[in-house]
Amino acid sequence: MLDKLGWRKTDKKDATLQERMLKVRSESVPQHIAIIMDGNGRWAQKRALPRVAGHHEGMKNIRTITRCANKVGIGALTLYAFSTENWKRPRKEVEFLMRLPEEFLTSFLPELMELNIRVRMIGEIDALPTHTQKAVQNAMNTTASNTGMILNFALNYGSRREMVLSVQEIVTQVQNGTLSLEDISEETISNHLMTSQLPDPDLLIRTSGELRLSNFLLWQLAYSEFWFTEVHWPEFSDKDLLEAVESYQSRNRRYGGLKGE
Ligand code: IPE
Ligand code: IPE
Ligand code: MG
Repeated sequence: MLDKLGWRKTDKKDATLQERMLKVRSESVPQHIAIIMDGNGRWAQKRALPRVAGHHEGMKNIRTITRCANKVGIGALTLYAFSTENWKRPRKEVEFLMRLPEEFLTSFLPELMELNIRVRMIGEIDALPTHTQKAVQNAMNTTASNTGMILNFALNYGSRREMVLSVQEIVTQVQNGTLSLEDISEETISNHLMTSQLPDPDLLIRTSGELRLSNFLLWQLAYSEFWFTEVHWPEFSDKDLLEAVESYQSRNRRYGGLKGE
């Protein structure tokens, strides 16, 4: 049974964590958090396990973080799961990664329904193996009328590719006369990106110590707050997420203006 905040009785076991969550929830919560889930391989390597064991553990951790984000009232959570560059990895590793959405989405779907979470995706779905497409499509269709948090997977996503596709769409509209050159604005570009239905992320998190964007949401992150941690993705806990959001809440976003305006 869920209470009116979408919490279960068992969530309340850890009183300190619960208090922290309620405090975070009562302040200005990021509407959209984007996470570069990095470090699965290193997590496995540290334990002398194959890299794919790290991917499996990383997939399981998506549940923990989704639940926590939902409990503190995040509007949308975008998770970078597979980049357009990740096809360069060994075939076996790519095959394993492409099986994860089936396993994850099938087992998590009943809970996603219960939590009123809507699954979406950015990236080029057509290039994914059929079984992966089916799993993602099924989760998106099943959750389509849910009205709570959006759980958005970036799968076969690359920001530069996204920009190329958006330029192609815009130019086509100019050529066929449905859009005039003078009317192209920042909003036009935002509206042609795969994130057109979402606000820009307020907070970007990258795990595992790398300090780069790796072709993730280059346009959308223009004014986002960044949070980096050494923690590998499979170990990134609800406490780590809270720490990131607490840091976000203590910051002063100026957008080029002056302090406090
Ligand atoms: C992130 O973990 C998952 C994907 C990129 C699919 P990595 O596989 O990049 O893990 P590291 O960076 O090698 O440790
Ligand atoms: C970024 O991680 C992509 C995902 C987390 C899906 P990578 O591990 O692919 O990034 P690089 O290669 O270290 O930049
Ligand atoms: Mg990596």
